[in-house]
Amino acid sequence: MKSLTVVKFGGSLTKSLRIKNKFLKELAKVSRTEDVILVHGGGAEINDFLEKFSIIGRFVDGLRFTDAATLSIVEMVLSGKVNRVLTTGLIKNGANAVGISGKDGKSVICKQIKKIGLVGEPVKVNKKLIKILIEAGFLPVLASIASDAKGNVMNINADTLASSLAVAFKADRLIFLTDVAGVFDKNKKVIKSLNLKDIDFLIKNQIISGGMIPKIKGCINSVKKGVKEVWIANGIDGIKKIKGTVIKE
Ligand SMILES: Nc1ncnc2c1ncn2[C@@H]1O[C@H](COP(=O)(O)OP(=O)(O)O)[C@@H](O)[C@H]1O
Ligand SMILES: [Mg+2]
Repeated sequence: MKSLTVVKFGGSLTKSLRIKNKFLKELAKVSRTEDVILVHGGGAEINDFLEKFSIIGRFVDGLRFTDAATLSIVEMVLSGKVNRVLTTGLIKNGANAVGISGKDGKSVICKQIKKIGLVGEPVKVNKKLIKILIEAGFLPVLASIASDAKGNVMNINADTLASSLAVAFKADRLIFLTDVAGVFDKNKKVIKSLNLKDIDFLIKNQIISGGMIPKIKGCINSVKKGVKEVWIANGIDGIKKIKGTVIKE
């Protein structure tokens, strides 16, 4: 059986053509020998578009507050732009990529987190569609959109989505690629290895904040539920010889 790697490509990276092209080339190569699921965000590009439409964005604990107007822009940018570009890049590099979102095939069912608007938290993963794609040799590329049990569309944090997919598919590796070299300590030095107790300390002391919170929560969730290798690393460095912060139980 092939090993499975779930990669989350941060929205903080999608605007850099150089990083994006290098990453997609490498991922296409990896996908020849391993099964891969790619999950992406689109934070930076969503912010650009919200600005164009004069919508002011705000965050609660690293999660984007999402009203109806924001959601339509979020879905447009994620599924209509970022997902298209990443899928195209993979196809150009020889991978058989298929772009979907968590709502397609009811793959990810979420529950609304009411205090931040139309934002959901995954409660169930229906593996069927993604499994069919992987088994048929496709590389699924997922935008971080899902729907609730009634089919209402929700914005979900891409880190949370990646973590729930890694758990559901019993991934061998989960890699969060972002715009920093790993998790920083209080002196902004990369911590090479973290366990769950260390993380508790870092959150309590607000050394981990903002966008790193859903990422680290995704790490805790997947490590606790059996994903063997979990990393937070810089997108510039790629995934082949991975370096950054490894998270262990
Ligand atoms: N302890 C920490 N170590 C590293 N980055 C941190 C830490 N605490 C907060 N951050 C912030 O988290 C950001 C990454 O999250 P985010 O901006 O959501 O990126 P992505 O688009 O990759 O999800 C970093 O750029 C950094 O500003
Ligand atoms: Mg983020």
